[in-house]
Amino acid sequence: MTTRIALITGANKGIGLETARILGRDGMTVLVGARSADLGEKAADALAEEGIDARFVHLDVTDAASIQAAAERIGDEHGRLDILINNAGITPTDASDPATSPPPSRVAPDLVRTAFETNVVGVVAVTNAMLPLLRRSPAGRIVNVSSNLGSLTQATGPSGAARPNLLPYNTSKTALNALTVAYAKELAGTPIKVNSVAPGFCATDLNGHTGSRTPAQGAAVIAGAAVLGDDGPTGSYIAEDGRVPW
Ligand SMILES: NC(=O)c1ccc[n+]([C@@H]2O[C@H](COP(=O)([O-])OP(=O)(O)OC[C@H]3O[C@@H](n4cnc5c(N)ncnc54)[C@H](OP(=O)(O)O)[C@@H]3O)[C@@H](O)[C@H]2O)c1
Repeated sequence: MTTRIALITGANKGIGLETARILGRDGMTVLVGARSADLGEKAADALAEEGIDARFVHLDVTDAASIQAAAERIGDEHGRLDILINNAGITPTDASDPATSPPPSRVAPDLVRTAFETNVVGVVAVTNAMLPLLRRSPAGRIVNVSSNLGSLTQATGPSGAARPNLLPYNTSKTALNALTVAYAKELAGTPIKVNSVAPGFCATDLNGHTGSRTPAQGAAVIAGAAVLGDDGPTGSYIAEDGRVPW
């Protein structure tokens, strides 16, 4: 079988790095997307030392020129893309202690803008730039790294009151889920599958390492959605223990 080519955004650390490691160990060529050349090269080198075919790709999801350059380079070097993991994400408020985050009534609008620029608009920009390459794959897969915090059903359910009410982050992940549905609808007649994944609460820089799961555990859920068979779902919201309600 031809070696699959997988691009992971924000792969220099955390869940993205672990996702690259899992897919690389599976024999894929992993393109380590990172906005910092230094950090991206270090991560790709570390994976390469483990025997993984890992290559750094400069990619800032908020920078159109870097996205375009990445797509051109992948096209030139590989001719196609099999897997796109939209992993890069931020929270502009302190997720390590949600109690200190501002309630919605005191959120500065710029914080929402900042979260959406990376977590939503960045995903549209990267996906649209990479889609011509994904269409050349026999089984393209797009995984949008969402969060349980994007689920409106969970937010309004019995445990909703106890969940962190991080307006910029949570609403950006809800919007990301809407993107998943929109792309899955457009691509329904193609081999490309598009899914949201909730990796679970993992200890990373994003939350000051307060998560109860390891980044590798979160990455395993993402990697599973990246290698779904032709009979797998599209337009779904996937977690380790099954589907997340929208
Ligand atoms: N950790 C959790 O419990 C959890 C739970 C649910 C969902 N998630 C999601 O999982 C994904 C990965 O998060 P993580 O926990 O692994 O956090 P992390 O360790 O902070 O990693 C985030 C990654 O995204 C990158 N990034 C941020 N802005 C970027 C941009 N404009 N362009 C390119 N890369 C950018 C970061 O790069 P720099 O190093 O340059 O900042 C870093 O590589 C995020 O989408 C997050 O929302 C995490």
